Amino acid sequence: MEDAFKYAHEKEDEIIWMSQNTNELDTSPIINLKIIEAVKKRKYNLYPYQQGLLGLKELILKDLGIEENFDALITNGGIEAAYVLTRAMLDKRDNVIASDPSFLPIHRQVKLCDAEIKEIPVYKDPYRMTVEEINEQVDSNTKFILLIDPLNPLGTSYTREEVKGICEIAEDNDVWIIDDITYRDFAYEHTLTTDFVPERSVLVYSFSKNCGFAGMRLGALIMPNEISEEIHRWRANPLSANILAQVGAKAALETKSQWMDGMIKQSRKNQGIIKEAIEDIPGVHLPVYPSSTNMFVIDVEETGLSPEDIQSVLLEDHNIFVRAGNYVSKRFGEKFIRVSFTIPEPQVRKFASVFTEVIERMR
Ligand SMILES: Cc1ncc(COP(=O)(O)O)c(C=O)c1O
Repeated sequence: MEDAFKYAHEKEDEIIWMSQNTNELDTSPIINLKIIEAVKKRKYNLYPYQQGLLGLKELILKDLGIEENFDALITNGGIEAAYVLTRAMLDKRDNVIASDPSFLPIHRQVKLCDAEIKEIPVYKDPYRMTVEEINEQVDSNTKFILLIDPLNPLGTSYTREEVKGICEIAEDNDVWIIDDITYRDFAYEHTLTTDFVPERSVLVYSFSKNCGFAGMRLGALIMPNEISEEIHRWRANPLSANILAQVGAKAALETKSQWMDGMIKQSRKNQGIIKEAIEDIPGVHLPVYPSSTNMFVIDVEETGLSPEDIQSVLLEDHNIFVRAGNYVSKRFGEKFIRVSFTIPEPQVRKFASVFTEVIERMR
């Protein structure tokens, strides 16, 4: 299939979207009400305040418990936050330490700055970077450690001890940490690098996954006040981000305590349904379970089937859109597919019921 995304978007409403870790589970009806109210008042006629909708920045910092000493730049998604950061801080000779598999668009941003990306292979136990491996890779040109925690696509997260160890490396080598916390709310426990090295932590924050706002395109770059002025000079959009997204995001954070637990519970239930359905298929296994995110990797290497073919058959025959591994790993992409499960339970059950049959038929 030439363009799976075009195909899927043409049939948008019929598709079960398990391909991009988006989240369609219930949050709060108040979010919709606030957005509709803003539409009725035609708030979109005006530019938003450049620093973001009043109060939103404070809510983001409060969400992380870092109200003091930090600033948040509101961006069009976490991906723009990473873009601004790499543009502002990376020079030609710099390198960035990251994992493989990983969320590769950030690696591409690093390369755009003519900087080097040093990928640590993590498709092996413990399926995340170890403190020792990072230590071995750091050199005098290292500018950042890209810590995606929890990790897309594997679903691993770092223990407090590991985060502390990584922060110590950053401290000892005068290196910054990009703490990409896009999936933080899905983790069983999570430690921010700001707990140990607030002065060298820059956080990529997203509303896409936890709040189900992927189409809204809203996120933030969170940084120590000392570098805030310089980073703001590099903002990709000096006219702020979509006002409706910001109104919704504010409502989402204000109501988060009412819906987050229920949403996470359903997400965890969904991954259990899939595990149960696929664990006895010969040649198929889950390298990481339970996942600390809203996705996991299904290893299909021993079936001898190509992940891309599995993606195509699920999409064309069943309207189920999963992602072949090569989107998140050049080295290991032929071994797995990635599926996300923050979708309504009946859709999860449909995937669970057809996956075995698809694998057996293709074999
Ligand atoms: C690790 C990671 N960081 C950042 C992003 C970008 O998210 P956003 O939709 O906020 O741009 C994603 C999206 O999948 C991601 O997986």
